[in-house]
Amino acid sequence: MDFTALLLIVHVFMCLSAVTSPQDSCGQRLLVIPYGVSRIVGGREAPEGAWPWQVSIQMHSRHYCGGTIVSSLKVLTAAHCFHKLKISTKHLFVVAGLQVLSTPGIQTQTRSISQVQMNEDYNIATSDNDVTLLFLSSPFHFTDYIQPICTPHNVTHEFTLNFSHCFITGWGSKYYKGELMNRLQEAEVVLIDRRTCNQFTWYNGLVTENMICAGLKSGGSDSCQGDSGGPLQCYSEDEDRFYVVGVTSFGIMCGLPRKPGVYARTSRFASWLNQSQPASGSGVHGPNTRLISALLCAALMWLLNIPTICQQ
Ligand SMILES: *[C@@H]1O[C@H](CO)[C@@H](O)[C@H](O)[C@H]1NC(C)=O
Ligand SMILES: *[C@@H]1O[C@H](CO)[C@@H](O)[C@H](O)[C@H]1NC(C)=O
Ligand SMILES: *[C@@H]1O[C@H](CO)[C@@H](O)[C@H](O)[C@H]1NC(C)=O
Repeated sequence: MDFTALLLIVHVFMCLSAVTSPQDSCGQRLLVIPYGVSRIVGGREAPEGAWPWQVSIQMHSRHYCGGTIVSSLKVLTAAHCFHKLKISTKHLFVVAGLQVLSTPGIQTQTRSISQVQMNEDYNIATSDNDVTLLFLSSPFHFTDYIQPICTPHNVTHEFTLNFSHCFITGWGSKYYKGELMNRLQEAEVVLIDRRTCNQFTWYNGLVTENMICAGLKSGGSDSCQGDSGGPLQCYSEDEDRFYVVGVTSFGIMCGLPRKPGVYARTSRFASWLNQSQPASGSGVHGPNTRLISALLCAALMWLLNIPTICQQ
């Protein structure tokens, strides 16, 4: 085998790994050190770049629901954001890298939605399985301001991650029936076990095993209107990464004692998340297109004799 052929093969492998980009890098902030130094009570403005997987789903340029980037083409959000939607997804856009709603910066990327895949077991009456995946019409380019989050593989994995800090984020109002916040807010919360959350004076049995509660038992920090669909994210010290543990689903009013926020528990949907693919036809990135772009990329590198990895 001569040298150029060997070089070409090396290039194909380099390009393939660059183009395939699996979720090997996830849940890491590139601009903010691990987690907030002090406990946040009642919420505060998030530092720039602190939550690079948080997106704003917008209708006619108005914030509608939150969402979380799980891969360059997939955004996780709540089913209740979409089930009553009367308008076509043509009018909806997903905005990433956003900090201030009224003034999107140069870090912002906007994508249209090619497909909405609601969880088939979503129950409107009980809010059970309140998760939806949005497939984007073209992938986000990951930057310091835009990154995917990690997802727990299953409930056991969720336990072993031994989370030390959990946060909720969003542009939702600070109080019941209040106005949206212009700047992304963050608040630290604690996970509350299902038994506590289901007590008679709490949610009295409404919390299913596909849900997880988080908040302060005394009330205070809580997700509120406009936060729907956004992440409950927890930090694993062992892995130095953030995981999406919940999707903001419902709560009674906002910040009431014994009425913490209720979130769809992502560890219960890991295989659904993993298996979900856009229906054929709208698929943007099949394995074949990946291989073809890797080959094209390698050929180009070889022709131009450049040793850089092709970026998508
Ligand atoms: C998703 O599936 C791939 C293989 O199909 C597997 O390697 C990976 O661990 C799965 N991820 C989760 C979160 O289940
Ligand atoms: C849960 O996920 C962990 C980590 O990926 C894996 O080792 C384990 O086999 C999984 N357990 C089940 C029951 O799927
Ligand atoms: C979990 O984290 C705590 C600190 O937050 C640590 O003391 C403990 O040893 C950890 N447990 C495991 C099993 O890693």
